[in-house]
Amino acid sequence: MKLFIDTANIDEIKEISDLGIIDGVTTNPSLIAKEGRDFKSVVQEITSIIDGPISAEVISTDAEGMLKEAEDLVQIHPNIVIKLPLIEQGIKATSILSKKGIKTNVTLCFSPMQALLAAKAGATYVSPFIGRLDDISHDGPQLIRDIIEIYENFDYPTEVIAASIRHPIHVLEAAKARSHIATIPLKVIKQLFNHPLTDIGLEKFLKDWKTMK
Ligand code: G3P
Repeated sequence: MKLFIDTANIDEIKEISDLGIIDGVTTNPSLIAKEGRDFKSVVQEITSIIDGPISAEVISTDAEGMLKEAEDLVQIHPNIVIKLPLIEQGIKATSILSKKGIKTNVTLCFSPMQALLAAKAGATYVSPFIGRLDDISHDGPQLIRDIIEIYENFDYPTEVIAASIRHPIHVLEAAKARSHIATIPLKVIKQLFNHPLTDIGLEKFLKDWKTMK
């Protein structure tokens, strides 16, 4: 499973990039707004840190506007992936971009049938939001399992990005469901490292080492 970081914060991306475990970055309008900086310059800076797919989201709600934004965004760097909302106009724009060979990430996916539409449109990626489903008492990870089953049934090449990940169990569920990618906030990536027995074990090894003559 590939690991993306779900952030538009340059310091967070720099901090984690050195570990060599991050394959790409996803941003969204809320994450960009939090940075209080120009959208394109943030995305450009991200492309200079991570050599992998970088999702940049359109804000238009009509296909024509989305395509105009996409044209502009793809100029930033060859690794840019155009992120579009899973609405009729978003699917229309995705179909057109796919035919032009432009990479797309269809976002705000909350049902397996929406994911089927993204695959039919030739999306490179689809982003099911599992945390937000859990928030309303639905089974978020089940959505990943359903989408993977459908995509495998028909050999759709669209890759699933498990998104809206809130804790390590979401990452576990995504991996068990054979999600191609999980996009994870820095806080949760850090939590993946933690195990009390690792800390206790290391402390003991180092203590025992000091007793050597
Ligand atoms: O990037 C989209 C997604 O991961 C958002 O997550 O926590 O706002 O539901 P969240």
